[in-house]
Amino acid sequence: MKNNRVCEILGIKYPIFQGAMAWISGGELAGAVSRDGGLGIIAGGGMEPDLLRENIRKAKAITSNPFGVNLMLMRPDVEEQINVCIEEGVKVITTGAGNPGAFMDRLKAANIKVIPVIPTVKLAERMEKIGADAIIVEGMESGGHVGTITTMALLPQIVNAVNIPVIAAGGIASGKQFLAALSMGAEAVQCGTIFLTAKECLIHQNYKNAILKAKDRSTVTTGNFTGHPVRVIETKLAKEMLELEKNGAPKEKIEELGRGSLRNAVIEGDVENGSVMAGQVAAMVNEERTTKEILEYLICDLKVETEVLKRKVDNWGI
Ligand SMILES: Cc1cc2nc3c(=O)[nH]c(=O)nc-3n(C[C@H](O)[C@H](O)[C@H](O)COP(=O)(O)O)c2cc1C
Repeated sequence: MKNNRVCEILGIKYPIFQGAMAWISGGELAGAVSRDGGLGIIAGGGMEPDLLRENIRKAKAITSNPFGVNLMLMRPDVEEQINVCIEEGVKVITTGAGNPGAFMDRLKAANIKVIPVIPTVKLAERMEKIGADAIIVEGMESGGHVGTITTMALLPQIVNAVNIPVIAAGGIASGKQFLAALSMGAEAVQCGTIFLTAKECLIHQNYKNAILKAKDRSTVTTGNFTGHPVRVIETKLAKEMLELEKNGAPKEKIEELGRGSLRNAVIEGDVENGSVMAGQVAAMVNEERTTKEILEYLICDLKVETEVLKRKVDNWGI
């Protein structure tokens, strides 16, 4: 896409990222999204270096277009993961759970674009200072680990604070929301929840069904008291965790209950005792589509909604 900094810097057709999803976005999904014109991102957070390499190779077997890897910087083997990314020629790394400053020189030398995911203005400014190529601003509507500020409130503040391109994440699953993000200054969007039901997303059908039947109030955030809030569908497990939190149970007990629970839902399909991470827009995800259909829907709907809005404002005659 011409005249879009994110597309130009990364060499992608559509300014749409498929956000990393731990245990979910492997090489198959990321490869398919990149093949179809977006930026697919492999979630490296839960992968040993060998598994990461395997998934990078899976994506490369699907497409020669650029795709990304998401790294959780607190992982003890993150240096090894970085070696794998460099050896395999990965073009984009998004980062979470830590400061990429210590790795910046190596990544830049390897011609890798570094895009941290951040939930506050202060961190955005810090990431720009240390040389991030762009930043992903994630609001608390999103699925998975969340901050405390909504996309609507946070995004324009960060756009005002930095000069590097900003990618909006959290609460985007339609052209209207895409348009809203662009109007607040984002130059691209990152979506997670809408890709959960993609045909190329290899999760258990029970997980997909939980997304397909979600309503506006189906998600909650657990972990508010442990300091690591996570947005999930309100399953039996989520209710139990919230009850423990309400009763002031020790942090360790709550964390123990959550251990392995995402895997349970994704692989085993246990959506009662598992953790079904999803964003508030799960309620808007009502069908299973291919990654191509999802990307084309977002772009076409964006164009339609832009026209609708323009006509509406013109009609006011002011
Ligand atoms: C199931 C699930 C797992 C996620 N895991 C990660 C992760 O491992 N790393 C990360 O940076 N973001 C993770 N996220 C956040 C997504 O990358 C993305 O920013 C977010 O889903 C966008 O908001 P949306 O859910 O409203 O589309 C996850 C989201 C979901 C739904």
